[in-house]
Amino acid sequence: MFRIGMLTSGGDCQALNAAMRGVVKGICSKIQNVEIYGFQEGYKGLIYSNFKMLTSKDFSGILTLGGTILGTSRQPFKMMRVPDEDGLDKVEAMKHTYHKLNLNCLVVLGGNGTHKTANMLREEGLNVITLPKTIDNDLWGTDMTFGFQSAVDIATDTIDRIHTTATSHSRVFIIEVMGHKVGWVTLHAGIAGGADIILLPEIPYDIDVVVDAINKRKDAGKRFTIIAVAEGAISKEDASLSKKELKAKQAKNSYPSVAYEISEKIQKKTDQEVRITVPGHTQRGGSPCAYDRVLATRLGAAAAEAIMDGDFGNMVAVRNNETVRVPLAEVAGKLKYVTPTSDIIKEAKLTGISFGDA
Ligand code: F6P
Repeated sequence: MFRIGMLTSGGDCQALNAAMRGVVKGICSKIQNVEIYGFQEGYKGLIYSNFKMLTSKDFSGILTLGGTILGTSRQPFKMMRVPDEDGLDKVEAMKHTYHKLNLNCLVVLGGNGTHKTANMLREEGLNVITLPKTIDNDLWGTDMTFGFQSAVDIATDTIDRIHTTATSHSRVFIIEVMGHKVGWVTLHAGIAGGADIILLPEIPYDIDVVVDAINKRKDAGKRFTIIAVAEGAISKEDASLSKKELKAKQAKNSYPSVAYEISEKIQKKTDQEVRITVPGHTQRGGSPCAYDRVLATRLGAAAAEAIMDGDFGNMVAVRNNETVRVPLAEVAGKLKYVTPTSDIIKEAKLTGISFGDA
């Protein structure tokens, strides 16, 4: 009997089910007797031994289904070594569940935080294989994460819809796109949706440069300006503060989110009306786009192959359109940021998009 544990952890995204289906179909096409233990709500299920026994049938018909059939939760890595309210050692509890069930391996689908814990479990001696999921596309070691393209499509659709109303009014429209630490979704949706200004965490903005770009459009007879803002967009002024100073400043501000702060700044410096749209979790909802279905299926099958090879301790990733195995020790704790000097930024600037930086 071959026993696999599986869990999805962190924020959900599209194509999690498609990826798990890929893993299970891949394994069940080669191995007859497989037991699948689906841990509920991420690492929580592994800690508290909360699982469902699943069969290959449970993974049929879920290719296009959004969310995750296992449920998920955020279990911060920094809290993993801190006992729970009943004094339970979470790491020991996870190891205990794994050994008690006599698992051959644990398949973990997750983003950055999830990978830190996966690597810790590897160090603790468990056979772990991971798959890169997140709409943020910020996992180091893979060109692409599944969920990203679907989120980009949704954010782009939001910008497209704003465009038609924007052309009817003389207004500035701000669309706040998900991404606290990295701006990949904002960058791609901004370019795809024809945003005039894109503000990213990786490129601190100068509000006067933003205002200048708005005014230039007005002077050129354009009736509206569309700004795609990442949740983590930051001003040059704030970027120059220490972490402690920034935290103290943010604790005092009463803006619901960054778009409101930027809106107020623009309204103070221009005569333009500003409107804000925050698509929020719609960006993680619904069916995966075709690209993500393909990527997730490929990565799922590649994970199945690695499991059957007995090659553990890796994240299956895609690089130059090939699936590869990247050691978890290399992946854990690293983020993949937008590089301000990269070609995509240069090309976007050449087409007239302002990043508020110069
Ligand atoms: O990590 C994915 C992500 O959607 C980020 O883009 C976003 O900042 C965050 O999760 C939102 O987290 P939550 O779903 O916990 O509100």
